[in-house]
Amino acid sequence: MKGIILAGGHGTRLHPITLGTSKQMLPVYDKPLIYYSLSVLMLAGITEIQIISSPADLGNFSRLLGDGSELGLTLTYAEQAEPRGIAEAFLVSADHIGQDSVALVLGDNIFHGPGFASLLQQKVRSVNGCVLFGYSVPDPERYGVGEVDRDGRLVSVEEKPVRPRSNLAITGLYLYDNDVVDIAKNLRPSKRGELEITEINRTYMERGKAQLVSLGRGFVWLDAGTHEALAEAGQYVQILEHRQGVRIACIEEIAWRMGFIDREDLRRLGKKLEKSPYGQYVLDVAARG
Ligand code: DAU
Repeated sequence: MKGIILAGGHGTRLHPITLGTSKQMLPVYDKPLIYYSLSVLMLAGITEIQIISSPADLGNFSRLLGDGSELGLTLTYAEQAEPRGIAEAFLVSADHIGQDSVALVLGDNIFHGPGFASLLQQKVRSVNGCVLFGYSVPDPERYGVGEVDRDGRLVSVEEKPVRPRSNLAITGLYLYDNDVVDIAKNLRPSKRGELEITEINRTYMERGKAQLVSLGRGFVWLDAGTHEALAEAGQYVQILEHRQGVRIACIEEIAWRMGFIDREDLRRLGKKLEKSPYGQYVLDVAARG
């Protein structure tokens, strides 16, 4: 399976912070926001990943992450000239996807919870149609909203409905088989002028091939798109890391634990960052495991 991180958009809800940089570069406590979505794909076992962003911001992402080889990844970069909708990712990345299945993650989403890596790996192995991840929220009208039957099959899906039919928000992590490229090619822009991810999901639903997996209590999903959400995400990560002495979304550690790099590679990566507590942590992991 190939991976895509969508990290474009104008970040207007975060102005003036995002006038000079992109949202996905902003810090969430000790690391850039994009590390969290990159971690998700890595934990799923995906190593061929394309990062999509605006022409103005793409260079910063490649400066931050390079070609991925130090992490045992193959990272490539592609431009989305204007934010014309999440589903445009499948058109921009059609060559990258080729004949494969694909996981798309929005670069401003953060996922954290027990058993997430094994859940992801299992879903990646068995994707037939699409797999979406739902999360119960008090304000579903801000998101894509789904309803499921008893077998976890999607039975309704709406984008930012005024009167939501459930409180299950559809999170920004989507797994698709290769049909998604053709489905995206046949989409027309919605009333607000975007190629809607919700329309892709509806097509799979109508084919009886859309599954919505509910991420239960005890799981954390954050969409760091507003000032409050960004601050809360930083606090969450700070408390968790401080209390447990582990770092979440540490891409160097994940690369090692997933077997993409060896211990010596990990030590070298830590050494480069050794002046920061983050780098010290990487060195500690390399020394002690
Ligand atoms: O976070 C989950 C939600 O993401 C889903 O529940 C919704 O169904 C989905 O439409 C989306 O809603 P948002 O209101 O968060 O969408 P937004 O337009 O803010 O785009 C999400 C991210 O994707 C944002 O960080 C910017 C980036 N983006 C967006 C568009 C439309 C792009 O890079 N390119 C684009 O063309």
